[in-house]
Amino acid sequence: MQTVKTLQMLRTALAQLRGGSGARIALVPTMGALHEGHLTLVRRARAEADHVVASIFVNPKQFGPNEDLDAYPRQLAADAAMLEAEGVALLWAPDVTAMYPPGFATNVSVAGVSEGLCGAARPGHFDGVATVVLKLFNQVAPDMAFFGEKDFQQLAVIRAMARDLDLTAPHVEAIIGVPTVREADGLAMSSRNRYLSPEERAAAAVLPRALADAAQTITDGLQPVWLAKAVVEDELQIAGFRLDYIEVVDAETLAPIEALADRPARILVAARIGGTRLIDNMAINPAV
Ligand code: PAF
Repeated sequence: MQTVKTLQMLRTALAQLRGGSGARIALVPTMGALHEGHLTLVRRARAEADHVVASIFVNPKQFGPNEDLDAYPRQLAADAAMLEAEGVALLWAPDVTAMYPPGFATNVSVAGVSEGLCGAARPGHFDGVATVVLKLFNQVAPDMAFFGEKDFQQLAVIRAMARDLDLTAPHVEAIIGVPTVREADGLAMSSRNRYLSPEERAAAAVLPRALADAAQTITDGLQPVWLAKAVVEDELQIAGFRLDYIEVVDAETLAPIEALADRPARILVAARIGGTRLIDNMAINPAV
């Protein structure tokens, strides 16, 4: 696996990878601090493309002023070893100046899907995500790109941006969402789980359990949406969480819904335990 840190080196390496035969390239964008969730994206990407390009870039534009940019774990050598072991061909690991040279002045903002949920609690976050993902798409020009469903709103924002800016086929042929990878007790894998104390980590298992129960009771029509959300809120409060939001939304538009229609829906939650903000989501009526 080759690691490149400048756009010039990236372009040369990509030209070599593509060769004359037009080999198909998959992109797995990450911020590093890799775990099994990221490696699952890489494995899916390997199964679908000839070569996998991974990126590691801790994107300052998606962190708010009081967020964990400085504390965000950085472990490039360990991450590179994991990616190499998974058969990644090329690692794009620019520094901040390579990604945002002096004078960089563009912001990509996707209205609608960015606005509620995490967008409300983290102003500017999804602009930062959309801006860097658009740059990554332009830099790597992948045939397909892989993102985890754990960041469900992020995936919706990226899909909306790709649709609106005509980044879909034949440019980025597919944006593929990969189901969340979970620990044995159900907690969604996240680079931020390492911030949890042992007590917080034990309590955190309540979050996926409460969410799964709510998703099931709503799907089965046993409780109205408002009641299922209130039950999750109570369970999280008892476990020591401070709720940021719990919402049931249309899976595509992310518009809140109060009753199930004949369309896929999703229940999403964000809550803080100690100093750590956890997010999770699950499908409702997955059979639709
Ligand atoms: O999900 C992430 O790790 C980041 O938001 C992404 C998509 C790599 C953009 O920085």
